[in-house]
Amino acid sequence: MTQNTLAIIVLAAGQGTRMKSRLPKVLHPIAGRPLVGHVLATAGHLHAEYIEVVVRHERDRIVAALAEDHPGVLFVDQDEIPGTGRAVQLAVDALPADFAGDVLVLSGDCPLADADTLGAFVAEHRAADVPATLMTAVVADPTGYGRIVRDADGDVDRIVEQKDATPEEAAIHEINAGMYVFRVETLRRYLPEVGSENAQGEMYLTDVPGLLRRDGARVAASVVADVAVTYGVNDRVQLAEVGRIMNERILRRWQREGVTIQDPATTWIDDDVTLAPDVTILPNTYLHRATSIATGATVGPDTTLVSTEVGEDAEVRRSEATLAVIGPRATVGPFSYLRAGTTLGADGKIGAYVETKNAQIGDGSKVPHLSYVGDATVGRGVNLGASTITANYDDVNKHRTEIGDEVHTGSHTVLVAPVRLGDGAKTGAGAVVRKDVPAGALAMSVAPQRNIEGWVEKNRAGTAAAEAASRADSAE
Ligand code: UD1
Ligand code: CA
Repeated sequence: MTQNTLAIIVLAAGQGTRMKSRLPKVLHPIAGRPLVGHVLATAGHLHAEYIEVVVRHERDRIVAALAEDHPGVLFVDQDEIPGTGRAVQLAVDALPADFAGDVLVLSGDCPLADADTLGAFVAEHRAADVPATLMTAVVADPTGYGRIVRDADGDVDRIVEQKDATPEEAAIHEINAGMYVFRVETLRRYLPEVGSENAQGEMYLTDVPGLLRRDGARVAASVVADVAVTYGVNDRVQLAEVGRIMNERILRRWQREGVTIQDPATTWIDDDVTLAPDVTILPNTYLHRATSIATGATVGPDTTLVSTEVGEDAEVRRSEATLAVIGPRATVGPFSYLRAGTTLGADGKIGAYVETKNAQIGDGSKVPHLSYVGDATVGRGVNLGASTITANYDDVNKHRTEIGDEVHTGSHTVLVAPVRLGDGAKTGAGAVVRKDVPAGALAMSVAPQRNIEGWVEKNRAGTAAAEAASRADSAE
């Protein structure tokens, strides 16, 4: 194999104690993906021959969370010997013996290092022709990081961990970002020499640069300008901060693609979402997973969409939708809830206070007010009157309601499923429809109205209503 091949090792075996969580640290999500999922997505863009993830703490959960989305990834189990040096050693051992390229080491808890930055980092290492290149950053507060100790000539001498640092070393502001490129033979040669005689009793990967220097080799440092790419997540404060930065990047990417985002501070968009030019996103909107929005559509304010498709020039206001398809020029909201399996046809309308589920609503059909439409097929040009309800559940099973084209239902119609309404059928206000309605028929189920004259004055004598009634009587 050539010198120019690349293996990527992602470290994800640590416990993440500072998160104080039941969920392993690297599985905490930002922008709709686990932290380590972002690292693997980036790694996927770097043309590596091998991508390995080192696991130990909650390894089954981590493997289960990643295996499907990252089928090419190799999982390496860390043993009881702790430390980043041990993790990398086992990953190198798992590579084919004839692998002779470079190894890029990344951390599963550092999701902000993008493919451009890492690609340039690898290129810089190759151009420098050194056994190892470190990514470093100069930061205002270096607490918690390994410090870069340089010699009188300004060359990297070694890395010292915070817990092993003297006060002078601890005062250094250049930190180890925890991302490295090594020639694989460097790791094969030096990792067996790394011990655990340090404050944490761990095999430190960060001992390798010092060992190289001892043997007279040069270690290069790539000082990143944008410190954010080095940010790691060790606790929930950092989780929120890194999540905010990731979101900001996603929003900026879409803004540059022609999307209007009125209030970036209250707009959250997952990495997997796709938006077309001339989409408008209004404040307090959350777009999750595989949501896609076509050109000219307006979404928000106060809207959450999960894996939902919004058609061209559609409008969705103050509503929530999951696994729904909203057709071109259709309108939704305010205050409606589209559950899984809802499809709304072109020019359709789901108005205010409507819940839908597993309902296919045809082109130009309207469900304007206060309705529940579940397990239903609704044809074209239908108008479901205010408060039309599909009673889909008989306490044991769910049943379907089938509504033809151009059907109009009266207000407060209850459609007791299973039931069918033929094309052009109508229902009277308050109808409870238990039997199929043929095409063109009007279904009535309410008993004729009967007025009992004088009932109020007789039964409610002395009330304001009785007085009003008697005034009306004498005025006649
Ligand atoms: C590490 C570096 C430190 C650097 C910092 C940058 C070492 C010894 N220190 O410290 O110089 O400034 O990252 O963020 O490397 N992991 C394993 N197996 C282990 C231990 C850790 O896979 O036995 C993984 C963790 O899951 C994590 C990564 O390695 O993804 C880093 O471990 P962490 O404990 O967070 O190291 P830091 O203390 O941050
Ligand atoms: Ca860390």
